[in-house]
Amino acid sequence: MAPGFFREARQDTTLGGYPIAAGEWVFVLLLAVHRDPAVWGNDADEFHPDRWLGGFRPKPWAYRPFGTGPRACIGQAFALHEAKLLIASLVRDYDLTAHGELDVEENLTLRPANLKISFDPI
Ligand code: HEM
Repeated sequence: MAPGFFREARQDTTLGGYPIAAGEWVFVLLLAVHRDPAVWGNDADEFHPDRWLGGFRPKPWAYRPFGTGPRACIGQAFALHEAKLLIASLVRDYDLTAHGELDVEENLTLRPANLKISFDPI
């Protein structure tokens, strides 16, 4: 998962009330966008995938894991398809048990740390 994406202003503009001059860059920090309590609730910092159940759909600007616009991720459809196939295959064939607390390690991309999962064939 990418921590965010950059954009360069083509013309003088404002963003959230801040002046941005033509040629200046901004970094959209997805770590912050995806943890805004106004959108995600007071448990925004917690790994809580069940929040997607029950029809919860954030506004498009509040959830941009693949970026936005013409330079958005070209691998989005592939990545989502691959993830569904992989997860469906794993939960069909294995009992998964988590050991430890999920932490996030940031390099060029974000990845899970400290959490180990054991797979027991069903
Ligand atoms: C869960 C998996 C993935 C995530 C979360 C992800 C996320 C992103 C993000 C945030 C960007 C920046 C978009 C922007 O600036 O608006 C990006 C760009 C890009 N991604 Fe992904 N990506 C994923 C998988 C993939 C895969 C599987 C491929 C290739 C098969 C891929 C190829 C690219 C390329 C080539 C760009 C640059 C697009 C451009 O600048 O025009 N990504 N990705």
